Amino acid sequence: MPQNLWNDADAQALPDLDGLVYRSNLLGRDRALVNIYGGNTSAKLMLTDHMGREVEVLAVKASGSDVLTITAPQFALLRMEEIRPLQQREAMSDEAMIEYLSRTAFEPGRPRQSIETLLHAFVPFKHVDHTHPDAVISLMCAPDPEAAARAVYGDRMAYVPYIRPGFTLSKWIGERVQQNPTIECVVMGKHGLVTWADDARTCYENTIRIVQEAEDYIAEQMRSKRVFGALKVPPLSATERQDVLAQVLPTIRGAVSARRHAVLLTDDDPAVLDMVGSEKTPTLSQEGVACPDHLVHTKRQPLFVAWQPADGVDALKERLKAGIADYVERYAQYFEANKEPGDEMGDPAPRVILIPGLGMVNTGKDSTNADVSRQLYHRAVAVLGGSEALGGFNPLTPKEAYDIEYWPLELYKLKLRPPDGDFAGKVVMITGAASGIGRATAWRVARDGAHVVVVDINAEGGEKVAADLRAKYGYRRAHFVRADVTKEADVQNAFREAILQYGGIDVLVNNAGIAGGANVEDTTLEMWQRNLDILATGYFLFAREAARVFKQQGIGGSMVFVASKNSVAPGKGAVAYASAKAAELHLARSLADELGSVGVRVNSVLPDAVIQGSSIWDSEWKEARARQYGVKVEDLNDFYRQRNVLKVEILPEDVAEAIAFLAGPRSAKTTGAVLTVDGGVSAAYVR
Ligand code: NAI
Repeated sequence: MPQNLWNDADAQALPDLDGLVYRSNLLGRDRALVNIYGGNTSAKLMLTDHMGREVEVLAVKASGSDVLTITAPQFALLRMEEIRPLQQREAMSDEAMIEYLSRTAFEPGRPRQSIETLLHAFVPFKHVDHTHPDAVISLMCAPDPEAAARAVYGDRMAYVPYIRPGFTLSKWIGERVQQNPTIECVVMGKHGLVTWADDARTCYENTIRIVQEAEDYIAEQMRSKRVFGALKVPPLSATERQDVLAQVLPTIRGAVSARRHAVLLTDDDPAVLDMVGSEKTPTLSQEGVACPDHLVHTKRQPLFVAWQPADGVDALKERLKAGIADYVERYAQYFEANKEPGDEMGDPAPRVILIPGLGMVNTGKDSTNADVSRQLYHRAVAVLGGSEALGGFNPLTPKEAYDIEYWPLELYKLKLRPPDGDFAGKVVMITGAASGIGRATAWRVARDGAHVVVVDINAEGGEKVAADLRAKYGYRRAHFVRADVTKEADVQNAFREAILQYGGIDVLVNNAGIAGGANVEDTTLEMWQRNLDILATGYFLFAREAARVFKQQGIGGSMVFVASKNSVAPGKGAVAYASAKAAELHLARSLADELGSVGVRVNSVLPDAVIQGSSIWDSEWKEARARQYGVKVEDLNDFYRQRNVLKVEILPEDVAEAIAFLAGPRSAKTTGAVLTVDGGVSAAYVR
């Protein structure tokens, strides 16, 4: 039910454009009113220009922003005086319209106006809302949309049938409002709603009231109906769902990442669980998509995988693979059947996968993108249910859908985004990422688009790194898992969590470590064992699990081992550490040989003396090393600098740079290799 959230005290304090921001943000708080990234709002304002003249300006949401989070700079400002004459035209191409509107800018440097700008300009009221309410779209996807809307609004509305947004649709809407001064709204076939008023508050309240009427009507029609039919596959319990998902998500991730690596997101909202297990869903879900807004992030159809728990997990994996392959083929056919000269097929993999008993899996080029798909499919479920209650669902035709999906103006929005970094769509797991080299690596790969799984025994430090990364890079871009790398169960749990978060992994950075040591006669068995456990066994356990996930995904992978100068040129007085570090290096090379055939690369970096930012260099280790080399603790930094041929200090960021290179696509043809990051230590030159 749409809530009236208007607060006069908040609104009145805001000048014109900020008032529009306020109204827009309020509307965005209810996603059943306005889809994420969908809808647009406007106000016709009197503003003073650079020459001190009062000018009527249309402030309209810019392309690609979201009403919930929009701020004043994300509104385009256009001169109404120059736009009004367009109403006299009969037709205008998209390109001509964009070009014309860009010349009406009131102020330079503002973002490009919404594709639906003229609709706002032609409605002769000061404030206009264009929303995509679930209930109104249900009416608009009913078998007879105009009749369905008349049943709710009678003569208080005008109806426009579906056409792709642009000049003509805007002209129709403007004319309907101008010719029918008593109507309260325009409803748009397979699209949405337009409402207006001369003051912001009434405009907002009109929108809420008109949507409420549609919601009440649909609720009445739905009363006690199970629109998706009887529940055939009840949901598994939350724990059972997670157990199955942990086993199948890497299979999905591999199959949908053939063209571009995807991050997965799972959803087990009760409404979705009910829908996926219901009798009519296998057919209803395939009928098509309600409106352009859903289409862009859900594709025309979800993949529905027929399964029930009794069939078993292996059967589900097989059906997922076959289902995704079939989906990709059907998408290619849809593309071929509708393409225009010059069109290039986009990623054919599904964005929404429905599995009875388990819920929904969404795919995206990052977590935010997957979440937009998730949110929009929630809207799609509500719309589909509403239309079913009204007698049937009448979606966009394949041709209508194609013309939106491959609409140059829609593709333009995608082009506005910055180019993908080396780790876009990739999941990078880093052990020992709470500190030092691991932490620097987490920041380095996140900068290039990675989703980072921060693993460490130190929960406080690890949580902080993950939280800081999320604060900087956004939604779900980092996840912390506490694990002791020597414990097999902890290692397996780290992978399970990574899979449940993101669907799988692409890169493992084996880095967690300790330092410490003594001459051989003073090395206790416990010290020896501890070094081997953390450094050699810990690296083995993570590598083994990563290999299993990589093989299940079938899209290659990469491992980087943070070994040490000690791996090839042991320092004195650290037999256990140096031996374990040598074991790591040999393990990496063995794995490189073994896993090359499945496209998995394994490389090592050999740092030396990374003192700043590292917690292995606690006072005890510093003192031990200073003693070993006969220098004062305070001179240790300088001692190490003088020891290398470049006479430089090595920082965690230097090692992170080498790791990022070996982990990512720039070293695609390198495996079994060793990269030193030590300023040049002759004894450790790799031969
Ligand atoms: P650091 O102490 O700053 O970071 C190591 C991280 O590993 C810590 O956050 C620690 O909590 C974690 N860790 C330790 N034992 C663990 C366990 N059992 N399970 C899970 N996490 C555990 O150290 P730094 O310098 O960043 O070292 C990282 C790697 O680089 C280590 O493998 C180290 O041997 C290697 N390295 C370091 C050099 C240096 O001079 N700092 C030189 C050559 C190699």
